[in-house]
Order: sequence, then C-alpha cells, then structure tokens
Amino acid sequence: MTATILDGARVAADIRRETAEAASELAARGAVPGLAVILAGDDPASQVYVRNKEKGAREAGIRAQTLRFPATVTEAMLLAEIGRLNADPEVDAILVQLPLPAGIGSSRILEAVDPAKDVDGFHPFNVGRLVQGKPAPVPCTPAGVMELLRRENVPLRGTRAVVLGRSDIVGKPMATLLTKADATVTVAHSKTRDLPALCREADLLVAAIGRPAFVTADFIREGAVVVDVGINRIDTAEEVARCFPGNEAKAAAFAAKGSLLVGDVHPVDVTERASRYTPVPGGVGPLTIARLLANTLDLCRARRRL
Ligand code: GUN
Repeated sequence: MTATILDGARVAADIRRETAEAASELAARGAVPGLAVILAGDDPASQVYVRNKEKGAREAGIRAQTLRFPATVTEAMLLAEIGRLNADPEVDAILVQLPLPAGIGSSRILEAVDPAKDVDGFHPFNVGRLVQGKPAPVPCTPAGVMELLRRENVPLRGTRAVVLGRSDIVGKPMATLLTKADATVTVAHSKTRDLPALCREADLLVAAIGRPAFVTADFIREGAVVVDVGINRIDTAEEVARCFPGNEAKAAAFAAKGSLLVGDVHPVDVTERASRYTPVPGGVGPLTIARLLANTLDLCRARRRL
C-alpha cells in the first residue's frame, strides 16, 4: 500500500483564511477579537508554540498579547493575572500554555479562567459540556484533527477508532469527539495489554503519546488512516538511523542541526501500511493553531452576542 498524505497544512491554511475573513467582518462591526496567552517558565518548545500562536493570531486580525512570567512565578501572581483578563472586556479568549512550571497547580490555574473565555476548553465546566454533547469550546488539537477528517472526507460512522494516549489535552477529548461522530472508540495507553494487536484493529489510529516513532508497522492495519499528533525531538544518530533509514537528506539535516523532529508514528512504516496519514511536520501541528484562532472567534461572537 502506498499511502497518501492528509494535508493538514493546506486545511489549516483554509481555516486561517476563513477565520481572517470572519475577523475582518467582526472588526467592521466594532469587535476586534482579543486573545491573551499566558506563558510561564522557559520550556523551549512552549516558547516556539506561543510565538507561532501569537503570529498566527495577528495574521488573522486577532488582537493578541502574550504575558510572560519567569519560572519563579507564584500561583497567586498567575491567579491575579487571570482575574484581570477575565474582567477585561477586550479579551475574548485566554490560553494558559502548558506545562506550567513545577510547583504550580495547573488545575487551580485552569479552573480560574472564565469558562466563557476558555479558548482551550480545558475548564472542567467545558469538559463536562463537551462530554454531554452541549456547545463548548473544543480543545484545539482534537478539534483540528476532526476538521481535517471532515474536510478530507474520511468516513467515521461505524468505523473502529483507536486513540493511543489518554491526556486531558488530546486523548480524552479526541475519544469524546470520535464517539460523537459515531465511531467505535477504544482509548489505549502505556498499560494496555498487547498494544500492537489492539491498534491493528483500528480503521483510524490516532497517536498521541509523545514517544518518537513508537507506532511501527506492526501497529498499523493495512489500509488504515493514521493521524500522528506527536512532535518529538530526536538527538542521537541511532534514533535518526532507526526513524529515517537510508535517508541522506535527513542525515544531513541532523548533522547540521543536531536534532530532528519526528512524530509518534514511524515515518517510513506508515507510508508502507496506511492508506492515508498525517506527516510530521506539516500534519496536525498547523491545525492546532488554526483551530485556536477559530475558537477565539467563536468565543468573541458568543460573548459579545454577534
Ligand atoms: N501544551 C501543549 N499543547 C497545548 C495546548 O493545546 N494548549 C495549551 N494551553 N498548552 C499546550
């Protein structure tokens, strides 16, 4: 089987264009959508993600601000900032970038965000509403995956889906959304018995476990659709050789940069077993930001009754 690509980058560009058009209509009516991002600490990946989120927001005509705090920030300081943003009428959407520095209780922080401004849909109130099938902001990565599957006409009703990973950010909401779309969903994780055999039952396999090239050929049913949510950095020659055997371009890029990005799915194996798959980079990553911008507009419209 020679797999074809599910082009997340193209679908993300479509969503961003639609969002920019909608934002300019709102601005013409006097409502410029506002997004505030809280970034605490110096996690290098978070720095890159937040920069891209802010840039994407600006390009879409969203008024974006990033509030940066050192790793020594206290819970009280973050709660005070969230209180201020909750009360600011120009702020429609609040995003607290995770992970937070060690010692900060992320539950208390996420629960302090006004559910009406909860752009990630991480507040327990919104999680509950999503599970009950009520309107709620949908966490950006699973929302992006659903949008990709819908726009690429991947059938879901009656199919078997396996979600590999049970995080609050991806695995759990992904399973909720696929169930709502009439797939039969199994959530698998590190303690699941005979993981490859279970994953091989999947018509749709969504990998979100944060382990480089963990999903190898023996996990993938011939002809399955494979969605790779992972973004992992590999930095040893052995890992590069295992993930990209015989790939001289990747070897050269590794020699120049000292590391490479790889998803949770083995990038060669997936092309040999799947019917369609999302590449890394250029698959799910761009969709997350696109959906963040779309969620910001949804919150703006709902909050300002537009
Ligand atoms: N860290 C990794 N992914 C995400 C995300 O989707 N939202 C937030 N807030 N933090 C993250």
